[in-house]
Amino acid sequence: MDLIIEKNYEDMSRRAATIIADEIRKKPNLVMALPTGGTPLGTFEELVRMHREKNLDFSSAISFNIDEYVPLKPDNPQSYYYYMNENLYKKTNIKPENTFVPNVLDKDVEKVCREYENNISRCGGLDFILLGIGNDGHIGFNEPDDELFAYTHLANLSESTIKANSRFFSSPDEVPTQAITMGVGTILKAKKIVLIASGENKAAIVNKFLNSSVVTPQLPASFLLLHRNVTVIIDEAAAALHKKTASKTTHYSF
Ligand code: F6R
Repeated sequence: MDLIIEKNYEDMSRRAATIIADEIRKKPNLVMALPTGGTPLGTFEELVRMHREKNLDFSSAISFNIDEYVPLKPDNPQSYYYYMNENLYKKTNIKPENTFVPNVLDKDVEKVCREYENNISRCGGLDFILLGIGNDGHIGFNEPDDELFAYTHLANLSESTIKANSRFFSSPDEVPTQAITMGVGTILKAKKIVLIASGENKAAIVNKFLNSSVVTPQLPASFLLLHRNVTVIIDEAAAALHKKTASKTTHYSF
């Protein structure tokens, strides 16, 4: 696992966007999976800037949302479909038919999950996945539990996730309690993984994750230890509790 500590949120975002842009330039039909939430906003902004100013071409790229709230309609501004459209898709030349999100309106959840996995396989599998991390250590919406789902499934969000996500809603009661999310196996099958985290409120979980040497479903991010191509990009605030904090950009390999 490679660890990159950047000075601040902007540098973290630029670093993640540069990695994604390099992947797209190497393989224009990159199959990527992307998260929503607060952390990737700067990365998406930077990708949009690269599209406008540096001809970063998304015309052959394929994007899968990692997750979607159940049962939000695509035109609901809180849906992750809406989020991706607003923050990335409509500001680049990615083709709408190359963007995928689990169909959370279909009542046949098992079929939806199976189809989502099939769509990923049909596209040749994920080349790349960008991840955030929840305060409870979740990746996607794979929440700490006694066991984790391998593939795309319906997930119940933990109390801590509902509380964290309530900052985007006018009242905590409006926060969806379920989502369809890629499973840990879906994530681990991606060829390259980048995890980003920023800010002091992520320092505790980042520290726990970076110090973990066992794989446990109680810390879903620990499964990333099993993957051979993971880069963790954090800013100094998120690195504050990690013993190797650095004052400038620092890389560790372990
Ligand atoms: C969202 C997702 C989640 C978030 C995580 C961190 O699509 O997959 O795992 O990445 O909850 O969210 P933020 O970035 O809002 O702290």
